[in-house]
Amino acid sequence: MNLEDTIYKRQSIRSYDDAPLEKQTLDEIRDFIDNAKELNPNIKWSYEILPTENISTMMRWKAPHYIAIFSEEKENYYQNVGFIFQQMDLFLQSKGIGTCWIGMGNPKNFENPDNDQKFIIIISIGKPKGNLYREIDQFRRKSLDEISDKADEKLAPAQFAPSASNTQPWYFTHNDDGSYDLYRVKLGRLRNRFYKKWNQIDTGIALAHLYVANEDSFRFYMKDNPKELKGLFYAGSFEI
Ligand SMILES: Cc1cc2nc3c(=O)[nH]c(=O)nc-3n(C[C@H](O)[C@H](O)[C@H](O)COP(=O)(O)O)c2cc1C
Repeated sequence: MNLEDTIYKRQSIRSYDDAPLEKQTLDEIRDFIDNAKELNPNIKWSYEILPTENISTMMRWKAPHYIAIFSEEKENYYQNVGFIFQQMDLFLQSKGIGTCWIGMGNPKNFENPDNDQKFIIIISIGKPKGNLYREIDQFRRKSLDEISDKADEKLAPAQFAPSASNTQPWYFTHNDDGSYDLYRVKLGRLRNRFYKKWNQIDTGIALAHLYVANEDSFRFYMKDNPKELKGLFYAGSFEI
């Protein structure tokens, strides 16, 4: 299956075969990540594929491998990480490998060699124990007119994107020239404490889906003076 079709099939996997992935598969994953498109090429980032022993999570389940992601703290670095690693999520799921972004976890007994990069998030990976895919009617997602100023099928790839606790914190507006502005929905103060960083990752994830579905025309940029909208934070503009 190609990456675009995978958008409408994938789901977070929380039950894994204990067996590790083959070395060749791990090498293919590294190769894919190293060639993924960046949203902001000014930001240095890195990752490490770690075994279960090097991970601490609040989850009751385990995966044979986890990808720990690190980045320089600069500009839209959370969004950049979401953008890069959601391409990897789709790649793995297209190859029959399960994944789950995990906000509630971190590496243990592992130091990133680059002190300028801080730990961002982990993603579990491995062979799924049950079904990898689901049917389109099994997705729980907001409708197209809830996530945009006007319902637009071109935004469907973003509509189906995964997000922290399925918060789907994205809102899109249309510009007269055919481009779009992306906003992140402000959550209540208490939830915002936890979700602020994850929701920034989420907007990068949604952009990754739009990129994968529009590889040739996708272009992302930040406006100097974006329109201010109540209850929303500006998170970039794009053409698709
Ligand atoms: C930034 C981020 C953090 C997440 N953290 C967790 C987590 O800690 N534990 C977990 O089980 N799922 C986690 N998820 C998975 C979401 O709960 C899941 O993507 C969402 O409910 C939509 O479901 P789906 O991915 O199956 O479509 C996270 C997802 C994202 C994008």
